[in-house]
Amino acid sequence: MARVTVAYACTECGARSPGPLGRCPRCGTWGTVEAEAVEAAPGGRAASGRRSAPPIATARLDDVSDLAFARTPSGDAEVDRVLGGGWVAGGAVLLAGEPGIGKSTLLLQLADAAARGGRRVLYVCGEESPAQVKLRARRLGADGAIELTRATDAHAIAAHLVAEAPALAIVDSIQTLTVEDGAAPGSLTQVRDATALLVQAAKTSGTALVLIGHVTKQGQVAGPKVVEHVVDATLALESAGGFRVLRATKNRFGAAGEVGVFEMTDGGLRAVANPSDAFLAERPHGVPGSVVVAALEGQRPLLVEVQALASASPYSAPRRVVQGLDGRRVDLVLAVLERRLELPLAGLDVFVNVAGGLRLTDPGVDLAVAAAVASAVTNRPVAAGTAVFGEVGLAGELRSVPQGARRAAEAARALHPDVVGPRGDGGAWRPARDLAEAFAALWGRP
Ligand code: TYD
Ligand code: MG
Repeated sequence: MARVTVAYACTECGARSPGPLGRCPRCGTWGTVEAEAVEAAPGGRAASGRRSAPPIATARLDDVSDLAFARTPSGDAEVDRVLGGGWVAGGAVLLAGEPGIGKSTLLLQLADAAARGGRRVLYVCGEESPAQVKLRARRLGADGAIELTRATDAHAIAAHLVAEAPALAIVDSIQTLTVEDGAAPGSLTQVRDATALLVQAAKTSGTALVLIGHVTKQGQVAGPKVVEHVVDATLALESAGGFRVLRATKNRFGAAGEVGVFEMTDGGLRAVANPSDAFLAERPHGVPGSVVVAALEGQRPLLVEVQALASASPYSAPRRVVQGLDGRRVDLVLAVLERRLELPLAGLDVFVNVAGGLRLTDPGVDLAVAAAVASAVTNRPVAAGTAVFGEVGLAGELRSVPQGARRAAEAARALHPDVVGPRGDGGAWRPARDLAEAFAALWGRP
């Protein structure tokens, strides 16, 4: 007879706790540690540790066979870029995003591409009825060969994967899965255990498994952040102005950080051929505080506008409002501007924004932030056709960032041929040693 004990786990990160703590010891969130019933296996963990165990198998590093991922192109070049070359047989991918962002649309399109390629595709309709999915499929002009199921019992789906071995299986969404009859779907244990079952089954069957996960307002996969640890790759679908950006936040098959850019149309999500042109389309000209950065997201050079506005603050502690960038990096750049270039920022509210709502993680945006703020404060616009890149150090020096040549090449292609960047590896841009030299390159000597 299985003993039922009570354990405690955090509903945010899944960490086990010894008791009903007010705050999760792993992720530090308050009020998320909840009780869960656990069936203890006979013998338990402590006992199994003590019994005499068979020796473990080891292999010399030389003798371990090379990892070769069996990749299948997804049918969409942007998705392949983000995945690192396509679906991986037996691999599990989490697609996270807010409701309504286009997760189901994107995956139905990818399901269609796989089905047209003659591969078997299973689509688990947990969120919507098959009729609703069919309606969307019609709209997208999707193929009829996709197999739909309403089953949400993880054991049954796992058994189906192992028996039928579809090439691609899409679960829409993990929050609708259950592992036991009668249990409420969406709870931490249900999502965690269901995901583990399916990931294991996909490994056995060689199925590329895609799990859709809804994200809460805080930007985390609802409750079961624990799923991120189990899957091989996590893709986030985010909104950026009128566009949708797909970004790999974790990728065991390739580089994390790669981005794909899409547009939602009447016929579903369409790849944006030249994202730089799209992101710069609404850029104002001759306006102080607007600077174009030759950024790099993943391996992709992207031209994006950084905007700054500075205005006299009514508050004793002026505001620093940052969107689309790491606020701490912006604070650092502002401090350098104040201390090294004596830019008078005290008493000013400063707003810094990436136009179009894109989120940039590239340290190469520092110079654009510095130039945008300086431009806003001194009321001098940057000439049209100019782009900048480079990391700013505490001494005001301009530091090299990866892929200068490709940034400059993309800038030239997108009609911003006058590029100011760090000295160092040199290239087709005007080199600057520090912020003062960069500003002299932009506005001439003061
Ligand atoms: P959906 O894929 O259902 O979002 P999610 O699964 O992330 O919740 O679709 C999001 C929105 O996209 C929905 O409001 C309708 C719209 N849409 C289009 O504009 N064009 C289309 O071709 C489709 C299928 C949806
Ligand atoms: Mg959906």
